[in-house]
Amino acid sequence: MASQRKFFVGGNWKMNGNKQSIDEIVKFLKAGPLSENTEVVVSPPSLYLEYVQQSLGGSVGVAAQNCYKVPKGAFTGEISPAMIKDVGCQWVILGHSERRNVFEESDELIGQKVAHALSEGLKVIACIGEKLEEREAGKTEEVIFKQMLAIVPNVKDWSQVVIAYEPVWAIGTGKTASPEQAQEVHQSLRAWIAKNVAPDVAAAVRILYGGSVNGGNCKDLGSKPDIDGFLVGGASLKPEFVQIVNARS
Ligand code: PGA
Repeated sequence: MASQRKFFVGGNWKMNGNKQSIDEIVKFLKAGPLSENTEVVVSPPSLYLEYVQQSLGGSVGVAAQNCYKVPKGAFTGEISPAMIKDVGCQWVILGHSERRNVFEESDELIGQKVAHALSEGLKVIACIGEKLEEREAGKTEEVIFKQMLAIVPNVKDWSQVVIAYEPVWAIGTGKTASPEQAQEVHQSLRAWIAKNVAPDVAAAVRILYGGSVNGGNCKDLGSKPDIDGFLVGGASLKPEFVQIVNARS
């Protein structure tokens, strides 16, 4: 089943870098070699979207890390999907746990952003994931299904969406979910999508794992049937990102 879904690796640079360090990342991305069997997307801070897009010259996709829910207007500090497209980028990450937990974005707002980004022709990496106390209370599925319920009604064309399951306790902590723990959630999420969206969507949609993925653990995680790639934070700033892109090759 995994074989019909193209492996996808996203690099979320978060609020890191400057032109000099970006030049170094672009250099190792261009040197690769990056497997042709992997779709690769990097996500710089919004200020550098155009610079990265132009430096990469289309060899790798570029995603914004966030956007607002309307095309333009009096929303100081925000950027719109129309602007992201205008500078040549095709993707946006929405619902990242740092947006949810540091900036208190609600499920409802994230759903509205997903709807607007898709309607403007951007592709969406939609993130979900439980906190440590939720996992320990046995609420992982309850939490991620609720997050999914806020996203699902806003998607018409699932070919434009990739889901990233990122347990909050594994993000930036060095504590990766074990391949078995991640596979268990990915499998139940796929079953939930089959039931609540459609079986063909469940079979085709890519579900990425995120949370302390690195060059050392990517092969084991990537060998699981329901793990279709990764959303990588810290390690996406380093040359080992190339290894992660090539985890399946
Ligand atoms: P990390 O971040 O790889 O640094 O844990 C992942 C993410 O937040 O997407």
